Amino acid sequence: MTGQGGRAAARVAAIAEVVGRVRAIEGRQGVSRESLEAIRAVLLELAARHDLFQPEYFPPPTPGGPRQSCLYRLSEDDDHRFALYANAALGRHANAAHDHATWAVIVGVYGEELNRLYRRTDDGGIEETGTAIVGPGTGLTFLPDELHSLDIDARTPMLNFHMYGLALEQLSARRYYSAGERTWRHFPARTDIREARLRA
Ligand SMILES: [Fe+2]
Repeated sequence: MTGQGGRAAARVAAIAEVVGRVRAIEGRQGVSRESLEAIRAVLLELAARHDLFQPEYFPPPTPGGPRQSCLYRLSEDDDHRFALYANAALGRHANAAHDHATWAVIVGVYGEELNRLYRRTDDGGIEETGTAIVGPGTGLTFLPDELHSLDIDARTPMLNFHMYGLALEQLSARRYYSAGERTWRHFPARTDIREARLRA
């Protein structure tokens, strides 16, 4: 096949192959820093396939609208495990420090995403421990109780992959820290997920 159809089929095949390897890593090694590092390496291989993830296939929301970022669902098992999304952003998008209640791995495709990293303090609050930029060829790993926040200021379309042990709609235990109230709150499910799974 050639053109768009061939490109879509190649993308579906590449995603399926990578998700299969992620499943195998977790099955073999469980959830640990080491296994998440291995998953990050596999996802970076997919992120390097710029031919399959051009901005025209995964555009960010139209400028001037209510949102500056959206998620494309690339893969999710029938039991909602191993959910892979492409996060597309243009403009400013920030959120509060939060955990994921499952493992999470973020890798960059193009553009840059600033992550703020935190630790929990003894009094039940949080403390920022540093920042990390996710861009092409780099990524971050988060165990289920680890914290981060996003602070994206994309002047040009940004795309990165977010993969979770369980689909975002299933993560009812996710929490974010309300700095103003100095308390933890339920992190509402995202409502900006666009279905992008295709059958080969
Ligand atoms: Fe997150």
